[in-house]
Amino acid sequence: MQLKEAVLTRRSIRKFNAKEIDVNTIKEIIDISQYAPSWKNTQTVRYNLIADKELIKKVALSIDFEWNRNIILNANKLMILSTVNNISGYEKDGSPSTSKNSHWQSFDAGIYAYSFVLVAHEYNIGSVIMGIYDEDKLKKILNIPDNESISCIIPLGYYDIKPEAPKKKLSDVVLRVK
Ligand SMILES: Cc1cc2nc3c(=O)[nH]c(=O)nc-3n(C[C@H](O)[C@H](O)[C@H](O)COP(=O)(O)O)c2cc1C
Repeated sequence: MQLKEAVLTRRSIRKFNAKEIDVNTIKEIIDISQYAPSWKNTQTVRYNLIADKELIKKVALSIDFEWNRNIILNANKLMILSTVNNISGYEKDGSPSTSKNSHWQSFDAGIYAYSFVLVAHEYNIGSVIMGIYDEDKLKKILNIPDNESISCIIPLGYYDIKPEAPKKKLSDVVLRVK
């Protein structure tokens, strides 16, 4: 698949079929997608792959937002991106490199998340990036180290139906040429 086609045809997928995703396929996706750029190449993003069905259920049930809970219950695997705190956007002595302080940690995670879902799309694996979850509960369930934050949950699965592309804002709304 050409890059242009991949960008134009990726959709957030929220309904998955029962076909199993091979863990090795996900490892391949990580091997490629981790070539994403990051703050001073600090690579603070960690990939937490949840393959155990009972654990997927536990993650789902920890989320109050029913919409996300149901999507996760239906997923074949979960990719949960966490990031090591206070490195991206900071100097080695711990002082912030810019006035945006910790902003760059999430920025890196976002780039990694998009890189991951785009490469997953190349493998015909559907995904949706999720920002609504209870971080404290999730960290406990997954035993995420204290010095990491959870950046997003990405439910994964093969799918039968691809939703229509949602409308995007017109270029004269989002583009300012000066
Ligand atoms: C940072 C971020 C958080 C998101 N959180 C959720 C979420 O919690 N639940 C959900 O169903 N979709 C979530 N989405 C998916 C967006 O709704 C989706 O990307 C958007 O509607 C555009 O659709 P498309 O991805 O098919 O282009 C999130 C997307 C991003 C980038």
